[in-house]
Amino acid sequence: MVKKIKEIPTHIPSMKNIDSHSHVRGESIYIDDIPEAQGTLYTAVCTSTIAHGKIISVNYKEVLKKEGVIQIINHHDIPGENQIGGIIPDEPLFADKEVHYQGQPIAMVLATTEAIARAAVHLIKIKYKELPAIVDPIEAYKKGNLHIPSRTFSLGKMDKAWKQCEYIIEGKADTDGQEHLYLETQGAYAFPNENGHITIASSTQGPTALQRTAAKVLNIPMHKIEVDVRRLGGGFGGKEDQATAWGVMAALGATITRQPVKLILHRMDDMKMTGKRNPYRSTYKIGLDKQLNILAYEADYYQNAGAAADLSPAILERTLFHSTNAYYVPNVKVTAHSCITNIPPNTAFRGFGGPQGMFVMEAAIAKAARKIGVKSRAIQQQNLLNNGHVFPYGQKVEECEAIATWKGLEKKHPLKAIQQNIDQFNAENIHYKKGMAVMPICFGISFTNTPMNNARALVHIYQDGSIGISTAAVEMGQGVNTKMVQVAAKILSVHADRIKIESTNTTRIANTSPSAASATADLNGKAVAMACEVLKKRLLKVAAKILKVKITELRLKDERILVKNSPVKIAWQTLIQEAMLQRVNLSEHAHYATPKIHFDKNKEKGHPFAYHVYGTAVFEVTIDCIRGRYEFDAVKVVHDFGTSMNRIIDLGQMEGGLVQGMGWMMMEELIYNKNGRLLSNALSTYKIPDIYSVPKEVDVTFLNTDGNDMAIFKSKAVGEPPLLYGIGAYFALLDAVQQFNPNFEPETYHAPFTPEKVLMGLYG
Ligand code: MTE
Ligand code: HPA
Ligand code: MOS
Repeated sequence: MVKKIKEIPTHIPSMKNIDSHSHVRGESIYIDDIPEAQGTLYTAVCTSTIAHGKIISVNYKEVLKKEGVIQIINHHDIPGENQIGGIIPDEPLFADKEVHYQGQPIAMVLATTEAIARAAVHLIKIKYKELPAIVDPIEAYKKGNLHIPSRTFSLGKMDKAWKQCEYIIEGKADTDGQEHLYLETQGAYAFPNENGHITIASSTQGPTALQRTAAKVLNIPMHKIEVDVRRLGGGFGGKEDQATAWGVMAALGATITRQPVKLILHRMDDMKMTGKRNPYRSTYKIGLDKQLNILAYEADYYQNAGAAADLSPAILERTLFHSTNAYYVPNVKVTAHSCITNIPPNTAFRGFGGPQGMFVMEAAIAKAARKIGVKSRAIQQQNLLNNGHVFPYGQKVEECEAIATWKGLEKKHPLKAIQQNIDQFNAENIHYKKGMAVMPICFGISFTNTPMNNARALVHIYQDGSIGISTAAVEMGQGVNTKMVQVAAKILSVHADRIKIESTNTTRIANTSPSAASATADLNGKAVAMACEVLKKRLLKVAAKILKVKITELRLKDERILVKNSPVKIAWQTLIQEAMLQRVNLSEHAHYATPKIHFDKNKEKGHPFAYHVYGTAVFEVTIDCIRGRYEFDAVKVVHDFGTSMNRIIDLGQMEGGLVQGMGWMMMEELIYNKNGRLLSNALSTYKIPDIYSVPKEVDVTFLNTDGNDMAIFKSKAVGEPPLLYGIGAYFALLDAVQQFNPNFEPETYHAPFTPEKVLMGLYG
């Protein structure tokens, strides 16, 4: 017998993730766990083996002879448009005459077993005429290969500002891409229904994106397609847009064969075929006065977008939004270029272009600090944002916690003391050196594309008093469903175990924005709150009628009705039954759209974000100067969670995001050769942080702030911001290397700072 875990009262801000039991027992259902329907066909995708070229011929003869092969599907078989591009229609589902990256889908094979399908793909013979491939974004830029016209954000007067600078420093900063490595690879399972209707179970962050695209490809109206998402084994942005292709393929297969079709990518295929965090190459120029005020900042970002635009144009925008990180710079001119290259289309990844822009700013500060002969943190602290400042995009800085988190960190972990310990250690050790870096962050919450900031919730109270909630939120491990339970439990004042969160389903909640931009809990939580408020009002009206009192005298508290704050004998279930007798509607559908936000793309000015999240972290690292290996001794963070509604979940997001960001900066090396082949295409060659790469100490302090009303229960968004701290890892490593080799100054600050690069830096 399983012991029933003691019920956690609903409003306690540490409610456990509602999935934790089924997760640890292996009972949670992902795409591959859905019980298989009879007649299910299995899919393997045939992809381009070259990065750029023309398709001369495709020969399927051998495939069709293979026993168990049921169907081959390529661009000829598409009833509607052969087009899946989300922002720009530049991406065919199946390549037709040309291929633009290695791993681009050309056809799919449906077979009675997965093994047959996978073996059959190798029997397809394709002849290409190879064309030159470009993998470097600057090379692409020079050839004029851009997805969209370049964009510039500017503030102040540059010419005048440069003249006032005491110090002007120029440099280059590059960041590599990052593989999402969600535990559950991309996948979908499509079922044909009557009259050409299709149900698609998908591992997607964007159910509506899949529904809309499948409708376009199948040439049927959206109402004939139902997308259902139970949960994701991680998304991290990799399934915001790039889950679509596989869902559409499964739906296409099911439409053509009238049989259920399952498509799940194997890990190496997923790594080969899908896009990653956009690598960037950048140049910058920074100017400071004698007091270390940053007076001017200029940068050019060359985004490696890959062969199709995907979400890169939106990602590019966030690079510009976060170009000055947590600092006030009065004169700014930053320009971003979305470069077309022959690698898989890159895509959303936690931070969405923001981290790439912030790295450049931190590189500029680090290089300036070295030239001037001060610590980076002297420049960082001097220029922190404060209320009354303005961001380069015109939004006023309000409720700013940049200085508060910095001071909070200083107070709890005096930086001077940390530095003294490090200095002493370095004086006493020859073959080990320590370094440190401080990393302040600032991240804007809202989709930068204003119209996307909306969500809906459908709340049913069943006649037995139990509750079912549907929203547009997709659970991907970030704990959003638990937060939705908390919202409803608090407003209706019922126990959490009365509430069930339904799958995310386009038939119950239509026209969803993807679960992304860290805004899922805010947008959907607000919608749940609105629906519950309406239901509560209806129920209180029922109670008022029974008790013959004014509705204003009534409250719901812990599943009871209170009259003027004293409990009466109407329990929750009785109230619901009474409402049924009175024929009161116990269902509500609510719509929330973030108020106040706007942005004018012509002027590149506006108020795009509901609010900002702030924080400051300090990193301490020890490097082994013989081997180049290193270990992070500690990361100490003071973070602005607002009033956290769930400290367990928020702490989990903090720790996970931090380590994921550190992995990007430390070890995750995506290597494409000049023919566009991904060489680090497996976990043997692509290293992600394991438990040994986690800092020995991670100390997270929740800054006590009021939070912001635009955040659900004033609990600020927490999904992406922690990843940004990871950038500090690069600069702590740089500091440590320079302790051993004071002459080391990289030509280009290039993350990740792998042990190999550390070693070369030590002796370079
Ligand atoms: N945490 C887990 N465990 N798994 C994920 O896939 N995705 C991240 C972040 N935290 C992710 C995660 C990304 S990229 C985003 S945008 C947010 O969660 C999305 O969820 P939220 O809007 O509810 O914060
Ligand atoms: N963040 C994440 N995903 C997005 C955004 C954004 O700002 N805009 C469009 N998709
Ligand atoms: Mo997150 S990159 O907005 O899915």
